[in-house]
Amino acid sequence: MYDFAIFWDWIEFAIRWTHVITAIAWIGSSFYFIALDLGLNREIPGPADGEEWQVHGGGFYHVQKYLVAPEAMPDHLTWFKWESYATWLSGAALLAVVYWAGAEMFLLDPQKADLAIWQGIGLSTAFLAIGWVGYDALCRSPLKEQPTLVMLVLFAGIVIASWALNQVFTGRAALLHLGAMTATIMSANVFFVIMPNQRIVVADLKAGRTPDARYGKIAKLRSTHNNYLTLPVIFLMLSNHYPLAFGTDAAWMIAALVFLMGVTIRHFFNTMHMRKPRPWWTLGATAVIFVLLMWLSTAPLFDTYEEAEARDLTPTEQRFAQAEGFDGAASIVQGNCSMCHAREPVWGTLRWAPKGVHLETEADIAKNARRIYTQAGVSHAMPPAIIGRLAPEDQATLVRWYRAAQGG
Ligand code: HEC
Repeated sequence: MYDFAIFWDWIEFAIRWTHVITAIAWIGSSFYFIALDLGLNREIPGPADGEEWQVHGGGFYHVQKYLVAPEAMPDHLTWFKWESYATWLSGAALLAVVYWAGAEMFLLDPQKADLAIWQGIGLSTAFLAIGWVGYDALCRSPLKEQPTLVMLVLFAGIVIASWALNQVFTGRAALLHLGAMTATIMSANVFFVIMPNQRIVVADLKAGRTPDARYGKIAKLRSTHNNYLTLPVIFLMLSNHYPLAFGTDAAWMIAALVFLMGVTIRHFFNTMHMRKPRPWWTLGATAVIFVLLMWLSTAPLFDTYEEAEARDLTPTEQRFAQAEGFDGAASIVQGNCSMCHAREPVWGTLRWAPKGVHLETEADIAKNARRIYTQAGVSHAMPPAIIGRLAPEDQATLVRWYRAAQGG
């Protein structure tokens, strides 16, 4: 029997796989071009602005850069845009599958804001849109003549967004959304600014006009931002694996510090690619910020691991709690899982429930029905090997309970 829970898990995997692959392609090409551009030898004769020799995979490459454009349109031109679009599209799909479809579990925190699911999804979308509109307005404002000031205002905006997200969503969703807002800005930079400007330049070339240097300058500002935003986005996208990062009221400050580390790390590599002396101090600064971040994550000033316990069961969850076989399933879970998945685990040196998954009370078990089913009912993912597999009849009991609640 092939049921929805299994189908859904695989869909999630397929989308995540796509997302990671496209992100690697995007970030890879973007890192490559940043390094190429910074390292160009600009002291060359002829119309080109700079050139570089590179060796890779058994051949030599001779790349030349023309700023803003060569004199005539080349016959063949490779564009780099689908890496970015596909990353955004697959990321949006993943957001919908994990945080919208799983809003009660992952997105909403009734202790912070009592939102209906549709309101949570509306806010989630609004944050992404507002981030881009605000950022774009900033880049078009008179401030644009002072790139450093733009960066500072941008950072202030990120800190405010980080704080605001943490007022309404779970810590986990807040960090993820901050990453998604930032990544949306990066993709929108490509879609709404860099590509259209590039197309104008291409059209000018085809028509025999000299392209306006202004377009190159605008694209440069935006791609500099993309450069500095990449590393924090990756941290935020991975942060949901780390309850220490998101399971505290200090999560919004942790996120802000991550953006600073993005700058210090990028600065090191950017300077290196320019073939200047390596600014080792930036790595020291990164380490200091990281230690501060580690300290913040469990600092006694902030409540940690506050979670949405108080909320009532949703109708779906109630169905699981009332389904035939619930008592049997609950006692299997309590007997085999709760030593680790507890608010105060008693197993080994565990100090908190792995992945923040609590499986102690009957309400916990009803809320986590699907995860119990996929992790321990139809697979041997849990409990960990050291504990040993569940007995086949126990697995069968979990599966029967889950399916009974699904109506068959
Ligand atoms: C010995 C301690 C231990 C026991 C017992 C245990 N788990 Fe876990 N569980 C873990 C650890 C560690 C992780 C985190 C795994 C990782 O990082 O990928 C985890 C993760 C999970 C997750 C989250 C998986 C994810 O990727 O989101 C679920 C759900 C889960 N366990 C369910 C169960 C169930 C159901 C049982 C009982 C049948 C169980 N666990 C028993 C230690 C335990």
